[in-house]
Order: sequence, then C-alpha cells, then structure tokens
Amino acid sequence: MIFSEPLETLWQRRFGQDPPAGIPEAVVPFLRHRSVRKFLPEPIDPAVHEALIAAATSASTSSNLQLYSVVSVQDPERRARIAELCANQEQVKSCAWFVAWFADHQRLRHAAALVGEECNGLDYTEFMLMATIDVALAAERMACAAEALGLGVCYIGALRNNPPGVAELLKAPAGAVGLFGMCLGWPDPSASPAIKPRMSLDSIWHQEAFPDEASIGDYDARMTEFYQEQGMSSSASWSQKSGRRVDEHHLSGREVLREWLDKNQMGTR
Ligand SMILES: Cc1cc2nc3c(=O)[nH]c(=O)nc-3n(C[C@H](O)[C@H](O)[C@H](O)COP(=O)(O)O)c2cc1C
Repeated sequence: MIFSEPLETLWQRRFGQDPPAGIPEAVVPFLRHRSVRKFLPEPIDPAVHEALIAAATSASTSSNLQLYSVVSVQDPERRARIAELCANQEQVKSCAWFVAWFADHQRLRHAAALVGEECNGLDYTEFMLMATIDVALAAERMACAAEALGLGVCYIGALRNNPPGVAELLKAPAGAVGLFGMCLGWPDPSASPAIKPRMSLDSIWHQEAFPDEASIGDYDARMTEFYQEQGMSSSASWSQKSGRRVDEHHLSGREVLREWLDKNQMGTR
C-alpha cells in the first residue's frame, strides 16, 4: 500500500481539523481516497478484474433490476480511441485497466420481451435515475474494492463528451448510454497525489432537517491554501471556479445528452 497516512493527518488534510474521538480504524482506509492519474506499467491480474466486477455487481441495486453494464477496453487501438473520445486524458491511455460504465435499459427490455412484457414505463425519468444510481453504486463499490487492494482509480466523466462516438466504438445498443469511465492501475509512487480537502461535515450533514441557509463554511479558504500547496497558479476561489464550471458554456459537448437520451428512449417522460 503506497498510501498509509494516519487518521490525524487524513482528517487535517480533508477537513482542516483534528479528528473527533472514536473514529473506527476500519473507516480510515476510506479517508485515504484520492484520484490517481499516474500509474506504473504493471498489469492487473485477470483474476482481480473478475473479483472487482463481482464486488461491483454485489452492490445494492434498485428492485434488483441491475440496470447497468460495464465494458472493459484493453485492446491498444480501442484504448487509444477511447482516450481520444475522453479529451485525450493521459490516464485513460496509461492505466492498466479501463472500464466504461453504462446505464443499460436494453438488457431488461430484451429479457422482458422474451416473456411477453412490454416495459412501457421504462422511458420514464424514474428509470433513467434508477439506472444512474445503480451505475454509481456499482462503480464506487469497484473503486473501494480496488483501493483496498492498493490499486488507484480515476473516474472519467469525459466519457460523456461524445456519446455517439462512445456508442459506436463500444457497439452499445440503443438503450445503453455511457455515463463515465474508470481508470484503474497500480499508483506510481513518484507522483503521490494529495488528499483533496472536502467541505466540513456540517456543510453536508444536516441533522434532522436542512438549515435555513446553505453554507460552505471555511471551504474557499482551505481550498485556496490547497491550490497554493499544489502550485496551481489561478487566484480564483473554489466558489468562483465551481460556479464557472457549471456555466452553460462549459458543457464540453455534453449539451447533446438530452437529445442522446431521447434517441435511446431513456428518461423521455
Ligand atoms: C463521475 C466523475 C467523473 C470524473 N471525471 C474525471 C475526469 O474526466 N478526469 C479526471 O481527471 N478526474 C475526473 N474525476 C475525478 C474528480 O476530479 C475527483 O474525484 C475530485 O476532484 C476530487 O478529488 P479526489 O478524488 O482526489 O478526492 C471524476 C470524478 C467523478 C466522480
């Protein structure tokens, strides 16, 4: 395991405070998460691929519908093409294992059609949300299992930059829409990515009910310190950067998603 910080260090880096008493040791590995974007060239054993898929599919899934698929992309040419589709991100090319996660309605449509069921409600938003939630739960369970083995992971939302390109490359049928990719591999110890601060727990965790007003507490100040430590030159705060990130001109091609979902008969009603 290349990441082994003690609880005190992790809590300070994550929340800018000393940890409260009584944090169980078993939770500490979860606090060590960071996205890994630089990997060693070593492969991951195929048995581990299978184990990680098994961990992912063991996640809870709404009504046991399992509305998702995952496609691994290892062939060098296809990997190069998927990297191109994902804004040419280096980690997509260099990771030992790359998987693309899909919300998938077509498998249920197919199974149900064989027994004479029409699935005529599957195009409601409810089932698009259900598939999206299922994908995220399965993927994050894979991420946790991978990290428990000492692997590093990086999600790739850029998989949504060009939905038709991804569908064509991976031969996705109508009703299967790529939501994000995931890079997995052995972390390169020379890169050592930092623990990224998160908002204080009381910004996120509302006990019994929401407060009258939302608050990010001291997060802008802590993130500014983090950007400086990481040598990032921008003087914009987290609030400024994040506000701009959700500006309608920063959709990186994803403004076509509504149209793409319609075409796939997903979430249209
Ligand atoms: C759905 C999703 C998509 C993401 N897409 C990308 C991506 O395309 N490229 C990338 O480098 N990181 C990506 N990330 C990683 C986030 O940037 C990262 O999780 C966040 O900045 C917090 O940093 P940490 O994971 O190191 O704590 C993505 C994360 C999620 C959950």
